[in-house]
Amino acid sequence: MSNPDDSIIRLRNVSKSFATPKGSFKAVDNASLAIRRGDTFGIIGTSGAGKSTLLRLVNLLERPDTGEVHVDGRDVTALSKAGLRDLRRSIGMIFQQFNLLQNATVADNVAFPLRIHGATRAEIADRVRECLAIVGLQDKADAYPAQLSGGQKQRVAIARALATRPSILLCDEPTSALDPQTTRSVLDVLKEVNQKLGVTIVIVTHEMSVVRALCRNVAVMEHGRVVEQFSTDQAHGVLTDIAKELHYA
Ligand SMILES: Nc1ncnc2c1ncn2[C@@H]1O[C@H](COP(=O)(O)OP(=O)(O)OP(=O)(O)O)[C@@H](O)[C@H]1O
Ligand SMILES: [Mg+2]
Repeated sequence: MSNPDDSIIRLRNVSKSFATPKGSFKAVDNASLAIRRGDTFGIIGTSGAGKSTLLRLVNLLERPDTGEVHVDGRDVTALSKAGLRDLRRSIGMIFQQFNLLQNATVADNVAFPLRIHGATRAEIADRVRECLAIVGLQDKADAYPAQLSGGQKQRVAIARALATRPSILLCDEPTSALDPQTTRSVLDVLKEVNQKLGVTIVIVTHEMSVVRALCRNVAVMEHGRVVEQFSTDQAHGVLTDIAKELHYA
């Protein structure tokens, strides 16, 4: 399908509610968003604003109640099982707590999505090497997660997320469990993934330093809604104001 404005991700009037003991709760409320191919896009907002839910709507870990989610010009809610598998392959995801398999080596962690998608042994070996080289951990292939630092664990998670050669990487607070120096090294890897591999990066964060270091565009969420969207190079001062408003600074 043609995609005239070159958005790789487009949400239109998307809502998502959850059943709670007190009734239905609207976590994402009529949100619209367009993310350009090759962008580094930040999503910020107070706790509970709906950031993680919004991110999970993109790869259909959450299904929207209403509204449209388009990825690469495809309406993801209309995909067949095979289509959904392709979508998942084209979108990597990383998390605050890394979510590595503790009983598997680094190499097996990276190989995991490839095994799910039925890659051959030779493909897996090549791809694992390639992805560990991207994150600078070739020498840790046989280590177990418990033997790694937090920053190294997140780099393994990035390698795993890249294993299927996705065009999009979703990052949910990927540096929130890391100290500032380690955060910088992970952001450097993400920058390289964006610049050298052309992967579109969408990152939820509460750290304005992360937004400044990595993001070209930012959306601000509040009570499930996208209340503001701006590009960081046109927004000197705006970031500081927003940080104050969100009590980040
Ligand atoms: N599966 C669920 N069932 C019930 N409520 C949920 C579910 N997932 C999220 N919520 C609620 O929806 C709201 C938005 O959650 P979400 O995790 O998207 O927020 P967030 O902006 O990522 O917050 P944080 O910064 O704390 O991670 C919260 O009030 C949360 O409790
Ligand atoms: Mg969250």
